[in-house]
Amino acid sequence: MKRDTRIVHAGSHPDKQFGAVNPPVYHVSTVTYPSVAALREAGKTPFDGMRYGRFGTPTSFALEEAVCTLEGGYRSISTASGLAAITGTLAALLKSGDHALMVDSCYHPTRRFCDELLKRYGIETTFYDPLIGSGIAALIRPETRLVFVESPGSLTFEVQDIPAIAQAAHARGALVAMDNTWATPLFFRPFDKGVDVSIQAATKFIVGHSDAMLGVITCATEEIWHAIKSSVALSGVCAGSEEAYLGLRGLRTLGARLKQHQESGLKLARWLRAHPKVARVLHPALPEDPGYALWKRDFSGACGLFGFELGPCPAEQVDAFLDALEHFSLGYSWGGFESLIIPTSTGIVRTATEWHTAGPMLRIHTGLEDPDDLIADLQCALDSLEVAAGG
Ligand SMILES: Cc1ncc(COP(=O)(O)O)c(C=O)c1O
Repeated sequence: MKRDTRIVHAGSHPDKQFGAVNPPVYHVSTVTYPSVAALREAGKTPFDGMRYGRFGTPTSFALEEAVCTLEGGYRSISTASGLAAITGTLAALLKSGDHALMVDSCYHPTRRFCDELLKRYGIETTFYDPLIGSGIAALIRPETRLVFVESPGSLTFEVQDIPAIAQAAHARGALVAMDNTWATPLFFRPFDKGVDVSIQAATKFIVGHSDAMLGVITCATEEIWHAIKSSVALSGVCAGSEEAYLGLRGLRTLGARLKQHQESGLKLARWLRAHPKVARVLHPALPEDPGYALWKRDFSGACGLFGFELGPCPAEQVDAFLDALEHFSLGYSWGGFESLIIPTSTGIVRTATEWHTAGPMLRIHTGLEDPDDLIADLQCALDSLEVAAGG
């Protein structure tokens, strides 16, 4: 079955819901049992079937089945947000005395969770160069349990050599978890590349409409799934049924939306690259991008999230440029139908490697508007900006 057909039918069981195409939204906390024997029997398999609202509902099970089919893993776990999926994975797979390797370009709250919470529980994190590749082997210690990757990074867009990292990690007994939100399961197949746990901030492209918080963790094996599911269930960060429903509804159109995000994003990126006031564009699908070769080898597409650097100019001018835009809203998210832009220079935190820019950095999420309108908007706002030409 081809990918777009799978997206439409994965996790869909109209026969079990009176023929309805979509699953009902189960509003449930309490689940009752017809007898003590049934209650005891259900307790033996707490994560299979309806046991209690927090452990999952038929709505969240349908979402998990669909995402798992697309990611290609053993089984998925839905969570209250993308960040809950990340922290739930880290908390489940690490214990006091363990060591984790975290990519230096990771989503900032992921970094903070390691530096603030994991540290407090006696788990040490070493941040590593996103471009390290098989060199990661030198950082793996006997107590290293997990290597976390995020590719491309959502602010600096460096592409990681995930097969090389996974090979080195596995050879030394460590697992690999990936934040796969940028590519979605459609543009990167994590389990074919050696990843053990793939995380989606489903809030972004899967929900796709900026109206729900949701995360999904997909695991390569039953053992890993059981470890993470038990831990997530114990910490209580389940996805609500309404959110799971919105995730499933968004998923059905993911293929069509991503095609448009990709096409428009590339059009904007190419246009910006040719603009004299733009110093550089960070988009792995542009042939001159340093990550292009790896992206081309491992990914089958690019979403519309990318970065760019303006030529050097004062901060007030950047603010005026951003305020002048009409079709781009200012917002710290992405994946929805509407275009967004944010300044990123001050948000880029690195500790293992340095990140150099001469001019201000910005990030665009390309929405589903007509790209020509978006370009006209950028053109108009750039016209009034005074930068050193060519950066
Ligand atoms: C790369 C990445 N991962 C994870 C998250 C967290 O997702 P959520 O906002 O659903 O917690 C975000 C949110 O911006 C993100 O950009």
